[in-house]
Amino acid sequence: MERRKFLQVAGLSAYACSLSGFTFVNEETGNIDGCPTTRDMLGPFYKKDAPFRNIINADSTDRLSIKVTGKVISCQTQAPLANTLIDIWHCDDRKNYDEEGYQCRGRFYTDESGFYWFKTFIPPPYGGRPKHIHFLVNKQEGYKELVTQLYFKGDRRIKLKNWVKYPWDQKRILEIKQNEQNESEVNLDLYLEAD
Ligand SMILES: [Fe+2]
Repeated sequence: MERRKFLQVAGLSAYACSLSGFTFVNEETGNIDGCPTTRDMLGPFYKKDAPFRNIINADSTDRLSIKVTGKVISCQTQAPLANTLIDIWHCDDRKNYDEEGYQCRGRFYTDESGFYWFKTFIPPPYGGRPKHIHFLVNKQEGYKELVTQLYFKGDRRIKLKNWVKYPWDQKRILEIKQNEQNESEVNLDLYLEAD
């Protein structure tokens, strides 16, 4: 088995330590420090053409409202990527995905700083899975599409060998913090790999 193939199968990458400190650079791709953001399942419930909106669900009664913020960033240059289209979706209060309409679904573009945000509520866990929100960072010129999910720190359903297989996956388990507006907020920067 050739080495590249072996690394793919093993889910490993070769890393070299740079002279500037503890920054890790992938020898094959030139990606920096844990890039790209690791992938996760698309799952069966993605639905195209969600409405454009940042307020996905603000009116859930018994779930914690959450603001999600972050940037979309190029792995190779570390530059923010403006005008990147992001889809997000999650289950509703009753653990269902809306397949008729677009409840708990939305999409939006990053701004000129590569920044994105949305507000919704923390979805309940279902089917033995931890609480999670799905992301599809749509393909933009020069970069690969990214399908991933975010999780919440402290969720006891997160078990290392199930949902977080590799060290970089842990960057998608997010700590909930209170922001200056006294909202609960998590931050997830999304690193895209060049084509
Ligand atoms: Fe899901």
